[in-house]
Amino acid sequence: MNKIKLPARRFEDIPTSGGIRDIVDMADRLEAAGRTIYHLEIGRPDFDSPKIAKDAAKKAIDDGFVHYADMRGVLELREALSRKLKRENGMDVSPENVTVTVGAQAALTAAMMTVLNDGDEVIVPVPCFGAYPSACAMLGARMVPLKCRLEDGFAVRARDVKPLVTDRTRMIVINSPNNPTGAVIPRSEMEGLADIAVRHDLLVLSDECYEHFLYGSEHVSIASLPGMSDRTVTVGSASKTYSMTGWRLGFMVTPPWMTSYANRTHLLMTTCAATFPQYGYAAALDGAGDDVRVMIEEYRERRDLAAGYLRQMKPLGFANPEGAFYILISVEKTGMNATEFCGYILEEAGVALVPGEAFCYPGSVRMAYCKPKEYLAEAMNRMKSAVGKLA
Ligand SMILES: Cc1ncc(COP(=O)(O)O)c(C=O)c1O
Repeated sequence: MNKIKLPARRFEDIPTSGGIRDIVDMADRLEAAGRTIYHLEIGRPDFDSPKIAKDAAKKAIDDGFVHYADMRGVLELREALSRKLKRENGMDVSPENVTVTVGAQAALTAAMMTVLNDGDEVIVPVPCFGAYPSACAMLGARMVPLKCRLEDGFAVRARDVKPLVTDRTRMIVINSPNNPTGAVIPRSEMEGLADIAVRHDLLVLSDECYEHFLYGSEHVSIASLPGMSDRTVTVGSASKTYSMTGWRLGFMVTPPWMTSYANRTHLLMTTCAATFPQYGYAAALDGAGDDVRVMIEEYRERRDLAAGYLRQMKPLGFANPEGAFYILISVEKTGMNATEFCGYILEEAGVALVPGEAFCYPGSVRMAYCKPKEYLAEAMNRMKSAVGKLA
């Protein structure tokens, strides 16, 4: 091949196809051919964004906030985030150490780019969100997976992290509630993880995008634990909590020693997040609590509905998720691999799911239940009869 047509060598470790994209393409083809497809593949909340956010963003346009913002984010939003972090997360954070980012995605990449060097090791519990392995590969860091098991409800245990720590370990990535399993890390394990981070002088990257999606458990921000504020990057997002995925707004809280570097990285990637939407996010943080409560109650009912159907599908296995809006389903007893199973369910039932390879967890598929209950019930019924044919 012509040398200029080669991507950077780091792409050798980054898949550019597979996972969600392949399933979406297949689903699109079937839809174009006239089939009805039930989309349970993408984690995109289906609610409208809160009115208070939309009104504030429209007003911001009318008020002329159509130019570059402060690269760290507009002060009103960073102040609203600082209040939220105190109120909800027990974190005492100055707006100086909050950076508004282009979604949590940009925060994760910027945080990792800011601190990781070639060859650094990053411990990541798997199954995991696909951005973590990709960012490690892009940066020449080595991801060290900590395998969590369905039989344990995909629990992350501090005692299992310990043996993975070497003198090259720089960071532990945690994501509670977890995408794709919905597992939540309880306070006792967070304390154990914090203890390991302090003892071994490690950073923690805590992805808390689903912090509000809890069906009985408590959310613990590891940065609020003793000794952790100086070694934790906390990442959050407007996307899921407020059903604002298209606004592309998230944030990172960095330890003061890291803030100027992290700001520089985010500046290099994006200059700044879009200006007028930031006023909408600030309004949502202060005034959309009721919208969030209504959505979470609805998600709990959706989870119960989806789990109820899955229990009737004998060859499938799953752990009842305590949070987020996903269920990771083991397909090992069907005799198919994850891609084959997704292809079969798409063809036979018209239901789109994602193969576990996208989450470093072959042998499983992810379902996102962020759809209305009637839609979900129809999809689950179709899936049940398709799975029934396998017996
Ligand atoms: C665990 C996790 N982190 C981060 C993101 C990125 O979210 P966004 O960039 O929309 O804020 C997602 C999106 O699905 C996610 O599931």
